[in-house]
Amino acid sequence: MTDRFLRACRREPVDQTPLWLMRQAGRYLPEYRAVRAEVDFLTLCRTPALAVEVSLQPLRRFPLDAAIIFSDILLPLEALGVRMSFNPAPKIAEPIRTRAQVDALTPRPMAEAVPFVGEALTLLRRALDGRTPVIGFCGAPFTLAAYLVQGEGKEGFGALKALIYREPATVEALLETLTTAMIDYLRLQVAAGAQAVQIFDSWAGVLAPATYERFALRWVRRIVDGLRDLDVPVIYFVNGGPHLLEAAATSGAGVLGVCWRTPIDQAAARVGPHLALQGNLDPHALFAAPDEVARLAMDVLTRMAGRPGHIMNLGHGILPETPIASVHALVETVAATADRAAVAAVER
Ligand code: CP3
Repeated sequence: MTDRFLRACRREPVDQTPLWLMRQAGRYLPEYRAVRAEVDFLTLCRTPALAVEVSLQPLRRFPLDAAIIFSDILLPLEALGVRMSFNPAPKIAEPIRTRAQVDALTPRPMAEAVPFVGEALTLLRRALDGRTPVIGFCGAPFTLAAYLVQGEGKEGFGALKALIYREPATVEALLETLTTAMIDYLRLQVAAGAQAVQIFDSWAGVLAPATYERFALRWVRRIVDGLRDLDVPVIYFVNGGPHLLEAAATSGAGVLGVCWRTPIDQAAARVGPHLALQGNLDPHALFAAPDEVARLAMDVLTRMAGRPGHIMNLGHGILPETPIASVHALVETVAATADRAAVAAVER
């Protein structure tokens, strides 16, 4: 059993820096593409045995320190009556633009609407049998709203930003509904076996600090508060948010996921010693030759050396075209921190 991921989340000493990769189950793996050649993405997410299979695929290749359940941040929105498709990018059938549409959302209990997520988590826990901890996840309310209002992924998410200024109360009503639903969703995941949860705020970076506080951070705080009694580590990942780091550090989550844009030691200095940090090798760095990948990964590790509570990861999701050899180079570089941990233990 390696519990170094969970220990690092709590800023406890570890034998080596833990490593997992955002989007580690996915299209850069030929075995994932083979599964996808047989089933469409939504069927994959909705079939627990298949979701577990693709969650396990990266762990068979690499000695990663956590598994993440295979799903998508948008899937639980089906519990609100939202219809969507993936090709591979998500598309919302009827984007939400009016107060009437927000009021017409019909939240159902997650256990009823998306039972397959809990079933997959329980199966994944059983399959790993204590060897590797399991991460559950959800999208942050702002990021989910960005998709719901825009209808698709789009640079800047201008439709939601315009609605924020035109009809702030409508956006707040939407965020409130999403927040309640995500608390239900994450609690279901923990009850089913998730040992830590990550909240993805992939698009919060399009906001300035004042709007971020009101339309993103405030709702994440509520989710974290809504999970407190469960005593599981919560990771809050903010993408594109170098200007939001100090604020994001006050979400209540014990771990802050740092995107690739800020040198991680600078992020650490800015947020203070009370949080564990996750990240933040640039996903594109994995397109370098293996020895350069190793050098760049070591740079991130060195910036965090000696600070308790570092979880090595990319600074955003792994890209579909990533060479497998680069992931091996990254894994081997992180494993070398075991020697450093041993030296530190002797010196203590
Ligand atoms: O991390 C994992 O391995 C678990 C699976 C996972 C997926 N999506 C599978 C997926 C996770 C954690 C997500 C989160 C997610 N989904 C985020 C937050 C993380 C981030 O990257 O910022 C966001 C913004 C989405 C929305 C989404 N879903 C997009 C933009 C896309 C298409 C483009 C892309 O990045 O792949 C998806 C589809 C999707 N979700 C795929 C996978 C493996 C590709 C679908 C396919 O197989 O065809």
